Amino acid sequence: MASLRSSLHMLACRRATSVRIFSTVDRRFTTADRSFATADRRNTTADRRFTTANRRFTKTVTDEVLRFSLDTPVQEALTPPSSWYKETGIHDLEARTVWRNNWVAVGRTDQVSTPGAFFTGTIGREPFIVSTDRSNTLRAFYNVCCHHGSIVELQEAGQANQFVCCYHGWTYGLDGRLTKPTKMRGIKNFTAGRNGLKPIAVRTWGPLVFLRMAGYPDADDFDQKVLPLMLELEEMGFISGMRHICRRQYQLNCNWKLIVDNASDGGYHLEYVHRDLSSNLDLSTFRTEVGDLYNMQVCIGKADGENTPKRQRVGAKAVYSCIYPNLLVNRYGPWLDINIVLPLGPDRSLMIYDFYLKESFADAMSEIELANFIEQSLADSDQVQREDTRVCEGVQRGMESTAFDVGRYAPGPEMPVHAFHLQLARDLREGLESTHSTN
Ligand code: FES
Ligand SMILES: [Fe+2]
Repeated sequence: MASLRSSLHMLACRRATSVRIFSTVDRRFTTADRSFATADRRNTTADRRFTTANRRFTKTVTDEVLRFSLDTPVQEALTPPSSWYKETGIHDLEARTVWRNNWVAVGRTDQVSTPGAFFTGTIGREPFIVSTDRSNTLRAFYNVCCHHGSIVELQEAGQANQFVCCYHGWTYGLDGRLTKPTKMRGIKNFTAGRNGLKPIAVRTWGPLVFLRMAGYPDADDFDQKVLPLMLELEEMGFISGMRHICRRQYQLNCNWKLIVDNASDGGYHLEYVHRDLSSNLDLSTFRTEVGDLYNMQVCIGKADGENTPKRQRVGAKAVYSCIYPNLLVNRYGPWLDINIVLPLGPDRSLMIYDFYLKESFADAMSEIELANFIEQSLADSDQVQREDTRVCEGVQRGMESTAFDVGRYAPGPEMPVHAFHLQLARDLREGLESTHSTN
């Protein structure tokens, strides 16, 4: 009996202790709750501060965008302020406007010429896949899995029957449909048919594939707008009769616009930056044409009967062109070199070079002659690019300095770069309007 009483006493003591522990824990919970509430209130204050900062930030972006005039003629115009080339706010605005609302060149048609062929890439923060499906239809999708958002296809290019997400194996057809969501037994309110890779508008022009993140435009006037350029290029060989030789990539420590600016200065920098190249061109013949969506700069080459490989490379005529926003198409001598420019950040860019050689030119050479010619030409192109990289990165460093804010245009040669900035400014202003209307 005594032992029963002592056991009950021990039990009661344990209960009392556990009640005390519970109460303490409870109190701690209540205290923790109170801290949460305080933290929450602080969060709300922080949120308010963030919103205010955001509004101020938007105002700054707006101010900076509006500093570039749409109406001032090139003779009086100031260039866009340096903020356009370094500020995250402008970079983000471009992501929502320039890189969404325009046809953006991303790759070559010959990369996706057979069913199952695909390539991947990224425009800013938007990963994409371009592929040809079983019925030979060109398709493009966000390369983002609808399960947990992983990148689906990790390879840069290849041949596939389907796309299998690298994370948990969800499988998509070449047409983007979700065909196999793995281990989903028991899930409710989920229909595979309503899920899939999100489509992106896709089209081709010449040997190139373009994407438009904002979808197909109501009326697509792209072909019409670039028609004069297409005619000029096609006369020299553009869509057919060209053989793809190789791809080269360059990363530059500068804003993507500096690359387009540099390619749109009407030959202004040629004699100062590319002495070797310009010695093979008759710069007095340089002429420039500016369209709504492109600029074209044409120069006669010094090639004659006694051609060195350098002269042969440039040939009798050179066409350097830019198509808004990110495509440079250069057609000279037997060469077509196409450069796709993509932003990697406010002050970093990627240039993808694709080199094509005229079939008939290549066929007329022996194998060894051709190999030597290609090697020499590619070395010359690399030299030109390194010279351009030096000046573009040099401008970026100057833009980062407090010493530079806005510049001026040389009205003759720099008309195309002014036209590029006008187009850009229109896009950015449109983006501001939609930001304000959604706020
Ligand atoms: S994130 Fe793609 S299968 Fe899970
Ligand atoms: Fe250049």
